[in-house]
This record gives sequence, C-alpha cells and structure tokens, in this order.
Amino acid sequence: MAGIYVHVPFCKSKCRYCDFTSFPDKIGFAESYMTCVYREMLMRKEELSSYVFDTLYIGGGTPSVIDESYIAMLVAAAKKYFNLSKNAEITIEINPGTVSASKIELYKQCGINRFSVGLQSAVDSQLKDLGRCHGLNEFFACAKLLRGENFSVDVMIGLKGQSLGDIEKTIEVAAGSGASHISMYALTPEDGTPIFTDYLNGELPDGDEVAEMYAFGVKKLRGLGYERYEVSNFCKKGKESRHNLNYWQRGEYIGFGVSASSHIKNVRFTNTFDLDEYFKCILTNHLPVIDREEVDRDGQKEESIMLALRTAKGLDITAFDAEFGTDFLGDYKSAIEKNEKYLEISDGHLRIKDEYLFVQNTIICDFLS
Ligand SMILES: C[S@@+](CC[C@H](N)C(=O)[O-])C[C@H]1O[C@@H](n2cnc3c(N)ncnc32)[C@H](O)[C@@H]1O
Ligand code: SF4
Repeated sequence: MAGIYVHVPFCKSKCRYCDFTSFPDKIGFAESYMTCVYREMLMRKEELSSYVFDTLYIGGGTPSVIDESYIAMLVAAAKKYFNLSKNAEITIEINPGTVSASKIELYKQCGINRFSVGLQSAVDSQLKDLGRCHGLNEFFACAKLLRGENFSVDVMIGLKGQSLGDIEKTIEVAAGSGASHISMYALTPEDGTPIFTDYLNGELPDGDEVAEMYAFGVKKLRGLGYERYEVSNFCKKGKESRHNLNYWQRGEYIGFGVSASSHIKNVRFTNTFDLDEYFKCILTNHLPVIDREEVDRDGQKEESIMLALRTAKGLDITAFDAEFGTDFLGDYKSAIEKNEKYLEISDGHLRIKDEYLFVQNTIICDFLS
C-alpha cells in the first residue's frame, strides 16, 4: 500500500501556534503554485508507474482556501498520472469559514470522499486566542454542509485557560457534528510562534495538567463511541484514516509541493520549504528535493518500533521478525524488562498499556540504540 500527499501552503491568516509551512500573504500565487504541483507530479510519473496508490491526502495549510477548481484539477492530475486504486481514500483538509455548499459539492464530484475539519475548540474566546479565522458558528455551518459525509474533526487540548468542561464541550460539539473520526492534539508550543511567548510566560497548562486533560478527553471520546487507534487519533469502528495508518506502518508515500516529505524504497526525502525556490526548481525541470536520507536496516527497525508503539494495536512481533529476520523478544529483552510496567504482550503484539500511551516517548527511547 502507498499514499500520495499534496501540500497546499496557503491560509486565510496564520494561527498563533502554527509552524506548518503556510503563507497567508501569498495566496495570490495559488494558481502558479498549483500548476507547479501538477508539473511536479508529471515529473514523477515514470518513476512511480509500478505503484498502486490507495490514498490521496490534500493537506496544508488550508487547501479549502484556494479556488475549488484547482483542487478538482489536482485530483484529476493524480488520477491521470498515477494508478490510484478504485476505492482510494481521498481526503482534503478544510477550515471552517473557507467553505461553501458549491465548494463541497465540487469536492465530492471530483472524487474526494473524506474531509478533515479544524475545529480546535468549541469556545470562541479560545479560538480567538489561538488566532483562528473562524468562530464556533462557522464550524456548525461547515458541519451542516458535510452532513452524511465521512469526516474528521481536529480538536486541541493544553490551551491557555482551558478547563475540563471546555474540553467536554469541544468533544461533544465535534461528536455531535456527525464526525466519524476525531483527532485530539496536545498543543505543542513551537519555538518561533507567538504562542511560544505564552509558554515562556508560564501561561499554558503544565505537563501534568495536559496529561489529565488527555486522560479526560480519551474517556469522553470512548464514552461517545470513538476508540483510540493512535495516541492522538480516535474513530468510530472501521473509520481509521487509511492515509495515516500507512505512515504508522512505515508504508511508502510520495509528497508533492513545498515542505512535503516522502518515503519511497527506504529513502526519506523532503522538498524545499521555500516557495520561491520551489517555483524555480519546477520551472527549470528540477525536483525540489533538499534533503535525502537512505534508511539502513537498523534505521528501518527503529522506525518500525517507534511508529508501531504509537498505535493502540502495537507492534506485530511475528511480522517484525519475518521482515527483519530477528528474534524481537530476545533482541529487545532488556528494553522490554525495563519497561515491564508500561508494556503488555497479547495476540502476538507488543503495545504500550492504554494509560501510558500519552507518555510513550520515554518508553520508546529504550528501544532505540
Ligand atoms: C495543518 S493543520 C490542518 C488543517 C487546517 N489548516 C486547520 O488548521 O484547520 C493540522 C492540525 O494540526 C494541529 N496542529 C497544528 N499546529 C499544532 C501545534 N503547534 N500543536 C498541536 N497541534 C497542532 C491542529 O489541530 C490542526 O488542525
Ligand atoms: S489554518 Fe491550519 S495550517 Fe493555517 S495557520 Fe492555522 S493551523 Fe496552521
């Protein structure tokens, strides 16, 4: 299984916490940019002719902020240049306040069958504080347009002044909208973003408070029928994001557009983060790759462990041993014993116990050389 990711680096405005590659002031370049993306796809057509792609993920940035015709052309280009499987999952990220009935209609017509909506919080003052370009009412309007569709909602915990009651309300709003999938992210105060100052000023909840918010959120989501399948991802039965599952299974994917990363034939590579450089490369018929790293056997093992232990299912021990010719339980005996309290083995899988999944990083470190 393999996936395609396309990065659309435009937003209405920049949220205070965000360090994703997005240029709110360069939206006028959307047409030239998308033309370059179609061209980049064409440049990779031959090399990827043997692949069957099972997912296409249009992310950002805010793909829904640009004219919908560019998105329709993007899906058409992906179908024309690559073997996209018949029942491929085709997702687009959308932001409330940037959609209309006709936009959603065209998305559906061109084959998009999954939507990911950024709500973040159901409390207007928190949305304002995050610098979001929408209020709760725009989310309700957006959810109405998506009624009956397969969609996910992003929410955040660890926000300034956020109470457990606020989290409860946010999750209830997300679930009540009819979402089949909810992602619950703990706010990461990224250095260089305005919110980092709030963090330095001690205005954000501390680690213990966030852990409490997370445990509360998990319980609430479960009560509403959303099972956790990865640290930050929850869904109704069978509604996992196939695109993200592929990432966690160390699957192959190709990324197009600025800052997009790829993993093909055990090589990880990343495109330039600079919009001008991206244009320059494509217009001179060069691939915009700035970083390329071959993952050796040990690296592959480490990645497999790291990614699998983020998931609720855990690491398939037999599959790991078959892939790498190892004896996993013997080779990692000391790491397993050291973390005995946090781990469990059942159905041939090693996994981090439910209650410790949120703090998986420290546990995972013991499995890395
Ligand atoms: C690229 S954004 C997705 C879509 C769209 N641009 C939006 O914001 O609605 C992906 C998600 O990552 C999460 N996110 C972004 N920056 C984050 C941060 N610093 N800490 C935690 N989550 C973050 C947000 O929940 C956001 O919805
Ligand atoms: S809308 Fe999304 S991508 Fe754009 S700035 Fe906000 S969080 Fe970042």
